[in-house]
Amino acid sequence: MDPSASGLTQRLAEAGQSHLLQFWGELSPEEQANLTHDLQGMDFKEISGFFKNAMETSSSTKHEKMDARMEPVPREVLGSVTRDRESLKDWELAGLHCISQSKVAALLLAGGQGTRLGVSYPKGMYDVGLPSHKTLFQIQAERILKLQQLAEQKHKIKCCIPWYIMTSGRTMESTKEFFSRHNYFGLDKNNIIFFRQGMLPAMDYNGKIILENKGKLSMAPDGNGGLYRALGNQGIMDDMERRGIQFIHVYCVDNILVKVADPAFVGFCVQKGADCGAKVVEKTNPTEAVGVVCKVDGRYQVVEYSEITLATAEKRSADGRLMFNAGNVANHFFSFSFLRDVVEKYEPKLQHHVAQKKIPYLDAQGQLIKPDKPNGIKMEKFVFDIFQFANIFVVYEVLREDEFSPLKNADSQDGKDTPTTARHALMSLHHRWLLNAGGNFIDENGRPLPAIPSLKDGTDLPIKCEISPLVSYGGEGLEELVKGQEFHPTLMIDEHGAHELVKNGV
Ligand code: UTP
Repeated sequence: MDPSASGLTQRLAEAGQSHLLQFWGELSPEEQANLTHDLQGMDFKEISGFFKNAMETSSSTKHEKMDARMEPVPREVLGSVTRDRESLKDWELAGLHCISQSKVAALLLAGGQGTRLGVSYPKGMYDVGLPSHKTLFQIQAERILKLQQLAEQKHKIKCCIPWYIMTSGRTMESTKEFFSRHNYFGLDKNNIIFFRQGMLPAMDYNGKIILENKGKLSMAPDGNGGLYRALGNQGIMDDMERRGIQFIHVYCVDNILVKVADPAFVGFCVQKGADCGAKVVEKTNPTEAVGVVCKVDGRYQVVEYSEITLATAEKRSADGRLMFNAGNVANHFFSFSFLRDVVEKYEPKLQHHVAQKKIPYLDAQGQLIKPDKPNGIKMEKFVFDIFQFANIFVVYEVLREDEFSPLKNADSQDGKDTPTTARHALMSLHHRWLLNAGGNFIDENGRPLPAIPSLKDGTDLPIKCEISPLVSYGGEGLEELVKGQEFHPTLMIDEHGAHELVKNGV
């Protein structure tokens, strides 16, 4: 196959990307065919436009601080599980009603590469080492199943929560295969819809596409905000419309505590007539590197810690809380009509963000070099980039220990957001559910184990307790199983009842 005959050589020359064919003569016919296929599918004009805009925006905003333009989230658009306890039940009932009408869908962002965790398979397939060894995908699937059941029981009507799963070119096949191998974890496979986000090439600072090997470009998914383009070009909005979906809960694959399609969050947003909502956790430490939801020039957005001064990060309101404390956890509500407007009208207006990365590249001799400092960029859109277009935007504050523990990094001593911290967060939540339902834990001598593990003897590990989502979605329905009873860890409660797995073991 001759690249000049097909016009490819010329297209590349016009785009300033001729170097991509520099090892052509060394490739096998199959490698040549693959490279030709990849290059022919690319719109170089569009990519170079993305690069130019992203670089310009990044250099013009790099040193600009947002402080003077920021306002905190006003109380009237805020719902809080701690400060609005009296409304919580109402919101939950409203959300459950919408679910029973099959108007609510869950949308999972699972197209990331999980580089920090460093496994070769999709993050949702990760087992954090719970007693059950369930993966993140299984936990989420079972929460959906349970929630469908709760809505059906309450409203005596059959319903379903379609589950849209965004993958990338790198994770699509393995994700689908995993679901199929596990029989869709008991869900109806017709209600699980996989789709694929776009990929973009990694580029050096001069806009040249980087080669990963002699016949392959270095490609990466286009950020979790690639969602909006993918929803349009994969026909997902049409699928939602056909199913009568009105409300969508979007969330990340890595949060082990995620309340998928959370009825209280959905109900709160629906009652407020919101077209877009963000679930947040309270930021309590001014230097925590988390983006905060706030208003900038009157429109909502997420402001990163690096975009504000320490003085602003430390500002406090009259109640003593940080003024900018709405910590973004990439967990959102959209009305169908807003999402459709985003996909059809607003998505093209979004600029890519620049992520400076150390990108392995080939030198002139074709040797793979792994740089020790950033040598190029990846371009990404973010899922929250579209807050600015919402007319009615609301914020819903939840407790971090109940709802947010992301898996980002591999295990290490004192590591943050690791398999260990995720496992502990889940077991500690389930321990609290059990205590609240009137159960207790005892040690091998029959002595009660303290409800709050003590630090001083090094036993600050959570009690090993895991409750299957098939038994309880959010702590409900446990009393009849545990009230007045004493258990030894490790305790597992599943659809077959309560089992002590290892007597005396903690
Ligand atoms: P992160 O930004 O934490 O990225 O994604 P990641 O891929 O999980 O991990 P690193 O940074 O490579 O270590 C937050 C969420 O957004 C999704 C991820 O799957 C995760 O649920 N995501 C990220 C996408 O769906 N697509 C992307 O292009 C990037």
